[in-house]
Amino acid sequence: MSSSSLFRTKKIEQSIRDTEEPEHALKKSLSALDLTVFGVGVIIGTGIFVLTGTVAKNNAGPSVALAFVVAGVVCALAALCYAEFASTVPVAGSAYTFSYASLGELPAWIIGWDLVLEFALGTAVVAVGWSGYIRSFMDNVGWQFPDALGGRDGADGFGFDILAAALVLVLTGILVLGMKLSARITSLVVAIKVTVVLIVIIAGAFFIKGSNYDPFVPEPKPVEAGGGLDSALIQLMFGWAPANFGVMGIFTAASVVFFAFIGFDIVATAAEETRNPQRDMPRGILGSLFICTALYVAVSVVVTGMQHYSELSVDAPLADAFKSTGHPFFAGVISFGAAVGLTTVCMILLLGQTRVFFAMSRDGLLPRFFSRVHPKFRTPYRPTILLGVIIAIVAGFTSLSELAELVNIGTLFAFVIVAVSVIILRRTRPDLPRAFRTPLVPLLPIVSVAASLWLMLNLPAETWVRFGVWMAIGVVVYFLYSRTHSRMARGEEAPAGGPSKPTAGGDAP
Ligand code: ALA
Repeated sequence: MSSSSLFRTKKIEQSIRDTEEPEHALKKSLSALDLTVFGVGVIIGTGIFVLTGTVAKNNAGPSVALAFVVAGVVCALAALCYAEFASTVPVAGSAYTFSYASLGELPAWIIGWDLVLEFALGTAVVAVGWSGYIRSFMDNVGWQFPDALGGRDGADGFGFDILAAALVLVLTGILVLGMKLSARITSLVVAIKVTVVLIVIIAGAFFIKGSNYDPFVPEPKPVEAGGGLDSALIQLMFGWAPANFGVMGIFTAASVVFFAFIGFDIVATAAEETRNPQRDMPRGILGSLFICTALYVAVSVVVTGMQHYSELSVDAPLADAFKSTGHPFFAGVISFGAAVGLTTVCMILLLGQTRVFFAMSRDGLLPRFFSRVHPKFRTPYRPTILLGVIIAIVAGFTSLSELAELVNIGTLFAFVIVAVSVIILRRTRPDLPRAFRTPLVPLLPIVSVAASLWLMLNLPAETWVRFGVWMAIGVVVYFLYSRTHSRMARGEEAPAGGPSKPTAGGDAP
């Protein structure tokens, strides 16, 4: 077993050829506008609708708006790296595919495994957030949902969030039926979601009280007892007294509200389904990121101005801020719109997840069985169904905030690898046409790596431990299965247009 084979890279031309094998090819139907809608559809979600309140209340006060700016800048840096890759390697699988083409197989496996965690748990987090808004809406109209079916957080003892699980299953069905249907539903729902966000900003602006911004950055406050693993890693590393609020609180907050930006990277996973990826990918990614950052800052400034941060609700802060000003009608509209909006977020995360799994399977790192597209719908229905069912179960049993932090660390880790890959690929393949070039290489990717690492260090130590365990399992799976089953290992890199690997029997896991 030579160590060089761990870093064998898959030729970019080969990656593109693979997508042309008829049995494993996805339909190319998306435009730049579709991608932007797709991006906004997944980006605006539980982060702004749910986490804003929690983070303002516990970590940052009104300066949560600054936390959004910090997280937005980290994402913009990463987006400039993602955009170069997405426009160079227009193949499903996002950072996974990019790193296979530049860093080598083992790093690619690690990133793919990491993305599975990001998207699967992200889907679960959003489904749970959605269920919360639905139940709050039902509550408004006088229908009390049984606690035991309302999820782990709300029930005594056993609890299963049946609404969250049901949502995931229904969306799985929609995705199996095909991308076009999904994109159409997405556009409608994105319009509703953005309208609701604009209602919060415009109507809410009339209820801002200047005194709520005083102090804008609250004084640092020591974390109560415990400390330990639930403190930010950086505080433990340097022996600082764990504290919330203050300037450091802004960074802690940024590492959590970062969740609100997750999704722009998923736009890159749809490269293979884009009509003109070289031109449309960068537009789609940067456009959706810019729109969302502006909306988040506006929403958090308005909401922390409407209600003192210490009184914000942690379940439905945007709606409850309106209740606090005596406007339950707005609160109802917002709850309804949030629930509708979270549906697409959940669906697109699920979509990104299945595409990464599909790409890994097509390369033989996961069983090839999963990369056969449906003969009629042309969708990767096998991983979609398998993962949909698993995620539905996870969503039924999980609690929101810890999972969100785990999703964040995984995503930031992916950003680090993508930024490093941009630098490497510029050296190893300077000849490749790049429709979009990251400016200031290597400076910008280096700053992107540093910024992502900084946010990672602001996450709790226990999140690092969980992430480490997941990645360790991945490395074991790689050495036990993927390393020997990889198409690269088997020398199956077929000539252009050659047939894909045959027969059901050979494909079985
Ligand atoms: N960015 C998405 C959200 O906030 C994942 O829900």
